[in-house]
Amino acid sequence: MPSVVVVGAQWGDEGKGKVTDYLAQQADWVVRYQGGNNAGHTLVVDGQTFKLHLLPSGVIQPGTSSVIGNGVVIDPLVLVRELKGLRESGLPDPKLYISERAHVIMPYHRLLDELEEAERGADKIGTTGRGIGPAYVDKVGRSGIRMIEFVQPDRFRERLEAILPRKNRILTQVYGAEPFEVDAIIEEYAEAAEILKDMVVDTSALLSDALDRGEKVLFEGAQGTFLDIDHGTYPFVTSSTPSAAGAAIGAGVGPRRLDQILGVFKAYTTRVGSGPFPSELQGELAERIRQQGNEYGTTTGRPRRVGWFDAVMGRHSVRVNGLTRFAVMLLDVLTGLDELRICVGYSIDGERRDTFPADIKELSRCEPIYETYPGWSEDITGARKLQDLPPEARAYLEALEGHLNVPLGLVSVGPGREQTIFLENLFG
Ligand code: IMP
Repeated sequence: MPSVVVVGAQWGDEGKGKVTDYLAQQADWVVRYQGGNNAGHTLVVDGQTFKLHLLPSGVIQPGTSSVIGNGVVIDPLVLVRELKGLRESGLPDPKLYISERAHVIMPYHRLLDELEEAERGADKIGTTGRGIGPAYVDKVGRSGIRMIEFVQPDRFRERLEAILPRKNRILTQVYGAEPFEVDAIIEEYAEAAEILKDMVVDTSALLSDALDRGEKVLFEGAQGTFLDIDHGTYPFVTSSTPSAAGAAIGAGVGPRRLDQILGVFKAYTTRVGSGPFPSELQGELAERIRQQGNEYGTTTGRPRRVGWFDAVMGRHSVRVNGLTRFAVMLLDVLTGLDELRICVGYSIDGERRDTFPADIKELSRCEPIYETYPGWSEDITGARKLQDLPPEARAYLEALEGHLNVPLGLVSVGPGREQTIFLENLFG
């Protein structure tokens, strides 16, 4: 079993960082395959805290190679800043390979992200403002700049000269903003291009060869299935493919090379940004879970919206990702609640619905149908096997497993690496 894909099974922030951090210890390669520095996770190693947005989790594992795949959009200034941060923390420089085919986030993408959001007004998506969407728009619109061009000064200039006049017309004539200048951009980015140059390679070939040799490859998803451009709550989504198939496209490996697909869920649900959320909680209970789970965005610091576990979403995730196992994170956050709920279906206009609607208008009219389970009050943060959990917590997990119809692979009962119940070795 040489490859594992870790995917967010809800709206992102499920705790993938902890899972990938753990699996990265066993992996030879850790690969980011989509998204960019809209993601964020915090790793605590030997008392030192690392906040990574773009670098794969493998960078803090000695001996692990890290890949930023072709499906990622890269802000070179952020990437260089993160690399410098590792060095300043005294870590050795990581073995990092960057796909030649990955697209670059330019300053006009960041500005457009802001301007487009402002124009959406009340319908704003609540993006992270990092230029992610506009960079993917240019990729698909065939006016992006790829890493292979970015690191060659002549090619970079050539691309900017071809692209910038039209961008500037949009910026000035549509939005009344200031135009960008080719020379200024080149000057701002020259150092980053020089630093990154030698890391830019054909990562698809590297990974295929590694898989041929039987090396362990971990594909690290960012965001989550419900932020997926195709399978998420469009238009309140990100612009990439976080779901499992995105790993094949975004890393340049065939889909049959993805073996284990681990869907990471929180024991409840959270969402940052706008859009309908059927099992959302308000008031005191929401605040309690938010405080207990420290539910504030890693990238933007925004408070996350919280709600009960939604098994309708769960089944959608199981299906579109082809999950082979699932993980339940932050179970300890639910300790002390009298009762827990799982949304098992929706009611819409008096009719029951068991699948997740494509239309957000319809979704916003869905009322959750709940099953209720007794809570527990014992501290579970010391549990290391299922038997250590109170019977109510085990019953809750069994209920989730029953609704998702996929075997449970892992349960997290606290932020520490050791605060984890493993049901099997995912790398086999
Ligand atoms: P964008 O990816 O910045 O374009 O933002 C689009 C949507 O995805 C917004 O609702 C963001 O809040 C959300 N989003 C992007 N990245 C993450 C993440 O890593 N965790 C949770 N939500 C995210």
